[in-house]
Amino acid sequence: MRSNLLVFWSICLTFAALMSLTEEINKRRTFGIVSHPDAGKTTLTEKLLLFGGAIQTAGAVKSNKIKKHATSDFMEIERQRGISVATSVMAFPYRDLQINILDTPGHKDFAEDTFRTLTAVDSVIVVIDVAKGVEEQTEKLVEVCRMRKTPIIVFINKLDREGKDSFDLLDEVETKLKLKVTPLTWPIGMGQDFQGVYSLYERKFIHFRPHGKQEGEEVHIVEDLNDARFSDIIGPRAHKRLGEDLETIHGVYPGFKREDYLEGRICPVFYGSAVNNFGVRELLDCFVEIAPTPLPRETEERKVLPEEVKMTGFVFKIHANMDPKHRDRIAFFRICSGKFERNTNYYHVRLGRQLRFSNPTSFMAARKEVVDEAYPGDVVGLYDSGNFKIGDALTEGENLHFKGIPRFSPEIFRFVNNADPSKFKQFAKGLEQLMDEGVAQLFTKEDSGRKIIGVVGALQFDVIQYRLEHEYGAACSYDPIQLHKALWIECSDPKELNEFTTRRKKDLAQDKDGKMVFLAESAWSLKLAQENFPKVKFHLSSEF
Ligand code: G4P
Repeated sequence: MRSNLLVFWSICLTFAALMSLTEEINKRRTFGIVSHPDAGKTTLTEKLLLFGGAIQTAGAVKSNKIKKHATSDFMEIERQRGISVATSVMAFPYRDLQINILDTPGHKDFAEDTFRTLTAVDSVIVVIDVAKGVEEQTEKLVEVCRMRKTPIIVFINKLDREGKDSFDLLDEVETKLKLKVTPLTWPIGMGQDFQGVYSLYERKFIHFRPHGKQEGEEVHIVEDLNDARFSDIIGPRAHKRLGEDLETIHGVYPGFKREDYLEGRICPVFYGSAVNNFGVRELLDCFVEIAPTPLPRETEERKVLPEEVKMTGFVFKIHANMDPKHRDRIAFFRICSGKFERNTNYYHVRLGRQLRFSNPTSFMAARKEVVDEAYPGDVVGLYDSGNFKIGDALTEGENLHFKGIPRFSPEIFRFVNNADPSKFKQFAKGLEQLMDEGVAQLFTKEDSGRKIIGVVGALQFDVIQYRLEHEYGAACSYDPIQLHKALWIECSDPKELNEFTTRRKKDLAQDKDGKMVFLAESAWSLKLAQENFPKVKFHLSSEF
């Protein structure tokens, strides 16, 4: 009898734990905002935080931004990056939900950082400047999202300024970003003539007050588009134009279906002006309705569902402290399933040992706090003295290796040499740790064993040199090498692979995990290799 009761109670407790886990999961929306620098990402983030009450004043997130004029001064950039750690993940409550915004550096030289952060989000908002349209950095970032089928919402910003025609812009998004779109709000006028946006899904008109007079929102419900009262508000010409535009929209763009958005097949588009806090609430309200709750994650072994009781997660970013007095690093850990608890032992899969964290932190707009528990979709900062590499998993004992944390081909390459033979150990250790942090990628040539560093932005060469000297007491020098791309190789025909590796040995190297890469000197030499070895596949990312 007694044992039956115990079984009953333990079933009840498990059930209650599961229910509360599901409740917490359903509350979470974890996403990133990406854009080309200057499109308005920081401004939009700030407005979203203001809505959530996470900050009280405008300007609080500005410190997060790497200033334009500092681009050649890497120490200044690192200092600012140090500040930005606190705001790397911004969590705030909104309408009973827990919103987690993962900040993505817009600075080109930190594009790798952004790529990796995108592995930890469940959806993305892309900000586009109405005058500039789709810019280079946005193209690259969206390509990564597309590869992962991440649901995307597009926010077209700065409607208070003259810009491109709205239909032309949608065309540009479709062709350049290879996304299918459907507008959910539509602008009436632009620049001087900007009157506001019409919400196609809520059938309402939100009136824009220029010159910073946007206080609260003036919303008109539009039950009948032909209503003369609506024409009185926006004027007959704009009214007629809106009618025509909507007709075109209904004819050309598919209706919005949430499943299509969640599968990455269609992107809803919103218009507004972030700096005027205009169109932002519509975006946020729709976002919380449609954006996915924490998604399952693929591992090499199996798919991990967020509702699983056992905790799992992975490290997607490591930030080192530039202050030599505080050498610790912060590992950004995304929880994928179960409940993460402070002072609990977790299994570090790669090291094969248990680790326990006494002060995991949450990041809340410029305020770091120790957290006792966290749930799928949340990101916690784990203080680390060198145990973590990007991609590392923590579990409750299971051997899992999370997929989808690829490395991409760098753009600039240099040979790296140890400049002080008496400090070889320090040089090797420093280089290894910096690579684990994801500062750059290291390739070892097959023929000579020489080491090549590949980066996205040239600034990282200075960062590596400086950090080797100041953190590890080592010195390095660089030699130039002319390379176009590093490509990961795959071939199902062993004979052709063998021929390829024998004939092209001088162009081959291993990445830090021992995977083979082809170092193409130019686009032309890559094309030639593709033609000569048709069965060899050349990939621009380490996961294929
Ligand atoms: P980013 O993070 O994507 O790099 O862009 P950020 O938000 O910093 O915005 C870049 C510039 O664009 C800022 O001006 C910002 O005020 C402005 N901006 C953002 N949204 C809008 C908008 O809706 N309309 C207009 N007209 N401008 C907008 P800045 O002069 O570079 O900086 P600040 O001195 O205003 O801070």
